[in-house]
Amino acid sequence: MSNPNMPYRNLGRCGLKLSQFSLGGWTTFGGSVKDFTSVRSILHVAFEAGINFFDIADVYAKGESERIMGAALKDFPRNELVISSKVFWPMSEDINDKGLSRKHVIESVNRSLQRIGTEYLDIYFCHRYDPETPVEETIRIMDDLIHHGKILYWGTSEWTADQIQEAMDICEKRGYYKPQVEQPQYNLLTREKFEKDVQPKATHHGMGLVTWSPLASGLLTGKYDNGVSEGRLSKIDWLKETLYTEQNVQRVRAMKNIADQLECSRGQLALAWLAAQPGMTSVILGATSIEQLQENLGALKITITPEVDKDLKKIFTY
Ligand SMILES: NC(=O)c1ccc[n+]([C@@H]2O[C@H](COP(=O)([O-])OP(=O)(O)OC[C@H]3O[C@@H](n4cnc5c(N)ncnc54)[C@H](OP(=O)(O)O)[C@@H]3O)[C@@H](O)[C@H]2O)c1
Repeated sequence: MSNPNMPYRNLGRCGLKLSQFSLGGWTTFGGSVKDFTSVRSILHVAFEAGINFFDIADVYAKGESERIMGAALKDFPRNELVISSKVFWPMSEDINDKGLSRKHVIESVNRSLQRIGTEYLDIYFCHRYDPETPVEETIRIMDDLIHHGKILYWGTSEWTADQIQEAMDICEKRGYYKPQVEQPQYNLLTREKFEKDVQPKATHHGMGLVTWSPLASGLLTGKYDNGVSEGRLSKIDWLKETLYTEQNVQRVRAMKNIADQLECSRGQLALAWLAAQPGMTSVILGATSIEQLQENLGALKITITPEVDKDLKKIFTY
């Protein structure tokens, strides 16, 4: 199903079309939102709003995110969905149950397919670069998986420009399927690596870009202006330590003026800004309730003019 209110964009130079906003399951589905009825109702709102891309990973809630999202996604025709999963992070204490070796990738994709309840993944991400496995070994498996129809496209996540180039060179030399998409962290508070390193390289190679943590785990909504008493940052210590700094809170407060002038929330402004950045295919949203998802989708109505872009970049400098 496509929705006339949702823009769809080609994934880089390939024919696959993704909704401009998508929905992921990190820390939420199977984690902070465990109840199947709630997950199902959030996914229904997403699908009805025109979201076609759902981003999961084996490691999210140790497989539970794949299981619960997979079960809810059964409500929709498979061909209308773009489902991704990922491989790299350890799934157990076993020495081989991690990384991007042939053994782990093959075993992991089979488990992901089983948990999600699908015959193929539309996109399969290498969740990080694995310095302990020759990259050629990994690329060859991705190529094999495409030939076997278990995955349709493969991508990278948080790879540097040099690592992407290394992969492209090997694919070029050996005739393997190239990575079609990179999944980096990108938001107003985390700009430098993406804008200086990843975006130019990905664009040069015609890769699509699907970006994560667009609201910096909720910080960009302004919900932590007066402290952290509830929400994700109150539950995950390392995230609070990384994100909840005086400078970040000041910057988020400073953007309120611009949001007020546009008659939108700060979260909507942050999301609309991201979607308007060069090379962007899809901004992966996170939501723990229907209300949050609906509020975030309100970003579709906001136009980012060059002046607004400039004003925001002045606040969120690097
Ligand atoms: N490739 C990678 O390494 C990687 C890493 C991380 C994420 N991802 C992907 O990116 C997706 C999105 O990342 P994310 O979840 O970090 O996105 P995010 O938008 O930065 O954070 C989402 C969280 O912020 C809070 N929130 C969202 N909308 C809100 C609103 N309108 N008002 C108040 N609070 C709101 C909710 O948490 P609370 O309600 O709990 O406060 C929600 O779970 C993930 O699900 C995953 O698919 C990929």
